[in-house]
Amino acid sequence: MNERANDGMIGAAVPRPDALDKVRGEARFVDDLAFPGMLHAAVIRSTVPHAKICKLDLTSVSKHPRVTCTLTANEVPGENVVHVIYDYQPALADEIVRYVGEPIALLAAEDRASARSAAAHATIDYEELPAVFDPLSALSPDAPTVAVPAATEKAPNLFNAMRIRKGNVAQGFAQADVIVEGEYRTGYQEHAYLETQGAIAVPELNGAIAIYGTMQCPFYVQAAVAKVLGLPLSKVRVIQTATGGAFGGKEDVPSLVSSLAALLAWKVRRPVKLVFDREEDILTSSKRHPSIVRYKSGAKADGTLTAIEVDFVYNAGSYQTLSSAVLWRGLMTAAGPYRIPHVKIDGRSVATNTVPCGAFRGFGSPQVIFAHESQMDRLAERLGIDRLEIRRRNALQIGDETATKQRLGESVGVLQTIEEAGRLAHWEERLRKVEAFNAASRDRRRGLGISSVIYGVGLGGKAPFLDKAGAYMKLEADGSIGIAVGTVEMGQGLTTALTQIASEALSVPFDRIHLAPVDSSRVPDSGPTVASRGTMMSGLAILDAAAKLKERIRAAAKDLHIPEEEIPSRLQEIAQAFWMRNLDPAVEGWAKGAPVDWDEETGLGNAYFVYSYATHIAQVEVDLTTGEVSVEDFVAVHDSGRIVNHQLASGQVEGGIAQGLGFALMEEISQKDGHLMTTGFTTYRIPTIRDIAADTKVAFVEALYPAGPFGAKGLGEVPLMASHTAVSRAVAHALGAAVNAYPLSPERVKTTLPSRA
Ligand code: MTE
Ligand code: MOS
Repeated sequence: MNERANDGMIGAAVPRPDALDKVRGEARFVDDLAFPGMLHAAVIRSTVPHAKICKLDLTSVSKHPRVTCTLTANEVPGENVVHVIYDYQPALADEIVRYVGEPIALLAAEDRASARSAAAHATIDYEELPAVFDPLSALSPDAPTVAVPAATEKAPNLFNAMRIRKGNVAQGFAQADVIVEGEYRTGYQEHAYLETQGAIAVPELNGAIAIYGTMQCPFYVQAAVAKVLGLPLSKVRVIQTATGGAFGGKEDVPSLVSSLAALLAWKVRRPVKLVFDREEDILTSSKRHPSIVRYKSGAKADGTLTAIEVDFVYNAGSYQTLSSAVLWRGLMTAAGPYRIPHVKIDGRSVATNTVPCGAFRGFGSPQVIFAHESQMDRLAERLGIDRLEIRRRNALQIGDETATKQRLGESVGVLQTIEEAGRLAHWEERLRKVEAFNAASRDRRRGLGISSVIYGVGLGGKAPFLDKAGAYMKLEADGSIGIAVGTVEMGQGLTTALTQIASEALSVPFDRIHLAPVDSSRVPDSGPTVASRGTMMSGLAILDAAAKLKERIRAAAKDLHIPEEEIPSRLQEIAQAFWMRNLDPAVEGWAKGAPVDWDEETGLGNAYFVYSYATHIAQVEVDLTTGEVSVEDFVAVHDSGRIVNHQLASGQVEGGIAQGLGFALMEEISQKDGHLMTTGFTTYRIPTIRDIAADTKVAFVEALYPAGPFGAKGLGEVPLMASHTAVSRAVAHALGAAVNAYPLSPERVKTTLPSRA
């Protein structure tokens, strides 16, 4: 077959197959779907942060004329748990509630308004228990126990403690000419996806059930629903509906939402829809873990890092959900993209009586990145070394060892991202201009920030069993290609990228290939669509399937006396022959990640099979009168290996920059005694188009990863990871102040940061 026929597909800007439906309003999100006889669910939730449930009376709920049924914990047919990583979180609380908003009972009604209003009629008597809301107090031995089961007698609320021990930090600090220490804090970040959480459970024939919903991980939902209903996995079919953004927020939460809808549907034998309104979504769904990071770094006079000692604590909320994964990924990122001989890192995730936190773009790493990049700047300042230069001198290169002693053998582009970002930003010249501006200005200050990051793509050594993916591929009788994969489109452009990969691999035109909606019954468990693994893992599965299908196509062509080079143009004819001669036109592709390992005790090992890198540079202007920060200019350079679609990749970077800017400057959820006080977008401010730098330059240095599809690694999360610290460091530079906490809202800038004026 002519391998070059479709050359140029990789990297090209092609129209997104899902774009027209979305802009025309024809894409069907979960709330656009209805099934005959469908009921609407509402959740009766805890109004207190920690209590024993003494009495639950649903009589007035049931009396509502439009309410069809109610459901409580004792009616759960399978196990009353939300299965994520552990099985401790009840689907419906039966004895104890541990956070405000925890589900206690369910109801289904003929319409949504009735469902929601009836939910308010439940009578619940509580015996309130002592509660704890911040992770440091929760770690004290006499704190009330939140965690189920209590972790240890000494630290009942310590969900996870993980560590890395490399070299000898005492020796490393002894070799240092300067040592800087800092403490950094970040708060919640809400995903603010366009579409709130939602699912529809539809009982099917023969004792099966189907779930339609907005989600990242159909196979997680399948496992959770099977567990709560007590069904075999094969009787649970999960179909992902068009998904209006996820950003990690639809990794674990859909397992809860779908389980609740499924419980009702199973009881009444009718389809049941559960869709959250925005307030319910913000109050009860996962968020980025609030963090406290203590960081000590040592470097020699020439800037060479000698040692780091890091101790960080994440507030996990009342249940573990994904906290162990979030913590582990934070741990793996905490050293930054630098060569450091002596490393000691401790991370803890802690239970409190607050809403469970989960995955959010960057997956536990933005919090530690804020710290490691702030530390780099402070070392540079103390040593009188330029900030870009100190990063350049310490950047990991091929042959170096990471903090976990992983020897990097290939595809390490961080140095190139630093140098290219510096070049595109005209770093030195710009620094001089900023200084000149500041010298001449009274009420405004400008600043430059730089931030470099490393990110392990895929699930890595903590959960290697999840790094797999399948692809089902079929040659239709007209020569078009149907594909089913198990990773999802959530706005990031995966469908487009995978279609491009298939097009290039098969030498079939892009518009002759169609990816079916993700349906768990069509493909084997392909792991979750998280950790920026979609393009790489499903791409590899597609390549595997394509190789097999091409083999069969070649054989058929030979029989038909069609020369190799004519296969692409005569594929229709060959497909017809497949059909006429009863040849098998379908193949399965499979991919699994390269081996990884990680030692629990030392924290050392080959944590991930490959890493992506980025460097961002931001220029801000601070209004000293109002405290407002505006981002004026931005340069983002990424190494994600081969870029499959430059336009979409740039879109990922631009979106990630905005989301990081929001994290650094404005996004804030206040919490009082376990109650979240920020319930909607009037008080939860997210960036708009007006907050984004008018001039944003995006570039890619493509350090190819030979084991990835056409050399691709992962990109999706990395932009957010790099951008927030470029912004916060630019503010620190502008003010000449220590910036130790987010968000840098006008209030904080005005009241807590000294200005250089
Ligand atoms: N981009 C859009 N538009 N919407 C999203 O929900 N999620 C991010 C990122 N980019 C997201 C997004 C997150 S958290 C991840 S893990 C990756 O996309 C997942 O997609 P990928 O594996 O295809 O990169
Ligand atoms: Mo992304 S936080 O890995 O879903």
